[in-house]
Amino acid sequence: MISFTVNGQKKTFDGDPETPLLWYLRDIAGLTGTKFGCGQALCGACTVHVGGSAARSCQTAISDVAGQDVVTIEGLSPDGNHPLQAAWREFNVPQCGYCQAGQIMQAADLLKSTPHPTDAEIDNAMSGNICRCGTYPRIRAAIKRAATGGV
Ligand code: FES
Ligand code: FES
Repeated sequence: MISFTVNGQKKTFDGDPETPLLWYLRDIAGLTGTKFGCGQALCGACTVHVGGSAARSCQTAISDVAGQDVVTIEGLSPDGNHPLQAAWREFNVPQCGYCQAGQIMQAADLLKSTPHPTDAEIDNAMSGNICRCGTYPRIRAAIKRAATGGV
């Protein structure tokens, strides 16, 4: 039996311990904000927080989250008003939207460790999160807004 929390709620899982966390989140917990993109830790669409740090849930075995706190886009803020979410709305960042939950979770991890990132730090932190719609300029602007209140 594997025990952990998801968005502050205690969870247990007694299936295959190699089950990807992403499968659990979407198919069992019903938290479909986290997306399946590549399944190979190459695109970032499935990014969540495990133990407070960004993790690719497609390549995280559920056994690896035993005793850990998992946070998904649904749990990032109780009311959807995390500074990044507010900035995302202000800058109309999403196009198709598919990558955006992962982008926000990756950016939230960046701002925790680096509250006022430079452009280079943003680019470096976000380089593993792919956006097929090319919203990168708006992503960067929104991160800077969330970090500094400016652009
Ligand atoms: S689906 Fe996990 S990194 Fe692409
Ligand atoms: S908004 Fe479409 S993939 Fe990023």
